[in-house]
Amino acid sequence: MIYKDIMINSIIKIAQEAGEIVREGFGKNFSFEYKTNLSNLVTEIDKKSEKHIKDFIKKEFPAHGILAEESGGENTSAEYVWVVDPLDGTTNFAHRLPIFSVSIGLQKNGKTICGVVNHVMGNEIYSAELGGGAYCNSNKITVKQNDNLRTSLLATGFPYDIDENPSNALGIFIEMVKAARAIRRLGSAAIDFCYVASGIFEGFWEVHLHPWDICAGQLIVEESGGIITDFTNTPASIYSQQILCSNKLIHDQMHQIIRANLISC
Ligand code: IPD
Ligand code: CA
Ligand code: CA
Repeated sequence: MIYKDIMINSIIKIAQEAGEIVREGFGKNFSFEYKTNLSNLVTEIDKKSEKHIKDFIKKEFPAHGILAEESGGENTSAEYVWVVDPLDGTTNFAHRLPIFSVSIGLQKNGKTICGVVNHVMGNEIYSAELGGGAYCNSNKITVKQNDNLRTSLLATGFPYDIDENPSNALGIFIEMVKAARAIRRLGSAAIDFCYVASGIFEGFWEVHLHPWDICAGQLIVEESGGIITDFTNTPASIYSQQILCSNKLIHDQMHQIIRANLISC
């Protein structure tokens, strides 16, 4: 058995455990702080979930590096690096909207080899191994075979600094909403990726994501037959920030709208 096959079960296990921490905290009182402004929260549950994941990694895989949203990078030049969003969808969580996830990717020498997204309240574990396909629980998933943007359901998200830098997010949104069947804003980028992978959405874009938002979801999308690029239509990395993700068939149609409405990169 190769290493990534062994690792995926560990990642699923810890994503489930962290998901139970988040589920347990949902709807209860929690303390929180503001990160950059009044829109950008971090709760005690984000931190508790992250600590649980990190303690597990340090105990079981002490040579591995970790890049985690709330505590930053540790040993990130290691051969294996875990990329962790302990609670993706904090705003939803804080407002008792049951759409949030735990997202954990594993990179080997900078290439993502495993990705797991636990859609906690949906009771869905999305997972993928490089070259092994993508799954929701134990069912194989694939993107939707629709090549018509006009009949596509899309998703997007808005960055926390949209009040300071609204141009790209809103300009692209206005044109995309006219071109597609409809657009949803779920509030968990990791779930947006998984919903493209499973054929619920045909496409998803966002102007300012982070490695922990992207890492696991990117592999799940690619292993389900989808594609992720940046806004120049170049294959995305977890550091790309500006992300366009689709079932491949509507990618160029979405990219044309982005290119025509992009103000600055
Ligand atoms: C956020 C969510 C949201 C997206 C934001 C992200 P967080 O992550 O994924 O859907 O629109 O850009 O920052 O802060 O809840 O982990
Ligand atoms: Ca996130
Ligand atoms: Ca988060």
